Amino acid sequence: MDDNKLHYISVTGIIRNKEGKYLICKRSENEKAFPGKWCVPGGKLEKNDFINNPKDTSDHWLNVFEKVLDREIFEETKVKIKNIGYVSNLAFIRPNGFSTVIISLFGEHESGDVILDKEALVDYAWVDLEEVKNYDLIENIYEQIKKVDNYFKDGEVKKENIIKKVREFVEEECKKPTSKYGYEPYEGHFIPVVKYSKILGERLNADLEILEIAAWLHDIGSIINGRENHHITGSEIAERKLTELNYPAEKIKQVKHCILTHRGSQDIIRETIEAQILADADSMSHFDNIVGPLKAALVYEGLDQFEANNSVKNKLIRSYNKLSKEAKHIIKPKYDAAMLLLGGENGIYT
Ligand SMILES: [Fe+2]
Repeated sequence: MDDNKLHYISVTGIIRNKEGKYLICKRSENEKAFPGKWCVPGGKLEKNDFINNPKDTSDHWLNVFEKVLDREIFEETKVKIKNIGYVSNLAFIRPNGFSTVIISLFGEHESGDVILDKEALVDYAWVDLEEVKNYDLIENIYEQIKKVDNYFKDGEVKKENIIKKVREFVEEECKKPTSKYGYEPYEGHFIPVVKYSKILGERLNADLEILEIAAWLHDIGSIINGRENHHITGSEIAERKLTELNYPAEKIKQVKHCILTHRGSQDIIRETIEAQILADADSMSHFDNIVGPLKAALVYEGLDQFEANNSVKNKLIRSYNKLSKEAKHIIKPKYDAAMLLLGGENGIYT
C-alpha cells in the first residue's frame, strides 16, 4: 500500500453545555502524543466502527464521524451529546511517524456528568472562552472553541430576532381593529402562555425556540379569523409567516404540530414534548387572568353574575384536570385561590 496515502483518522469534539461552557480534558503523562496537555475528547476511527453495522445505502455507511464521536465521547467521559456539526480539520505526524488527520466536530451536551476514563484523561474542566486561556492547550484547540462559540452566538442572535419578529407580528395583529378579540388577549393570554411555556420547557428540557415561537402563534388564527378551527387556521398563518421569515422548514413543521394540537377540546395526539407543554401552558394561563374569562362570560356571552361565576369556575376546574402533573404542581396555589373566590369545587356560590 502507498504509505503516502495512509492516514489515521481521529475525530474530536468541542462539547458545549447549556451554560455555554466547553469541556476540556487533561491528557495523561503516559500518552505518547501531547502528554500532560489539555485537549478535547475524541478518538480514532476504526474499520470496526462501521463494518459490522448494516449499510445505509447499498454500498455505504453514512455519518461515520458522528457515530464515532458519539461513542468515543461516551467511552471517555460518560456524557451523551446531540446536534453534532462540523468545525474544522487538521493533520499531523504522530511521534511514531504515522500521518493522522483530525476531524474536529462539535456537539451539545445532552445528559450525564463527566466521569473520566482515567487511563487516557486525568482531569477535566468546563470553561468559557476566557477561562480556557488559563490552560495549557494543544495548539489550535482554542481557535476551534472560538469558532464554535461564534457559531452559537450568531445562532442566538438569529433566534432572538425571529422570536422578536413573531412576537411583534402577533402584537400588531391584536392591535388591529380587525382583531376578533381586541388587544386584551395579547397581555392577558399570549404573554402568560409564553411565560408558562418557558417555565415548563426549561424543567422538561424541551426545545425552547420551537416552544416560544409556537406559544406566540398558537392563537393567531383566533385573532385573525375567529375561534372556530383556529388551531388549523393558526397553523396555516404560522407557516406563511415563518416561511416569509426564512425559518427552516423542519422547525416550521414542529411549530405547526404544537399549534394544531394545542386545544384541549380537540382529540389530536400530541407527538412532541413541546406540543404537550404548549397545551399545558394554554390551560395554565387561565389561572393568571380570571377577569378575562369573566368579562367574556358577562359581556360576550351575556350571562348573569351567578352564571358567569359558575361558567368560569367550571372552565378552571376542566383546565386544571387536564394539566400534566408538573403543570398542576406549579398552578396549584392559584387553582386553590380561584376555587376559594369562585365558590369551590362543590359548586356553592357564596
Ligand atoms: Fe390559547
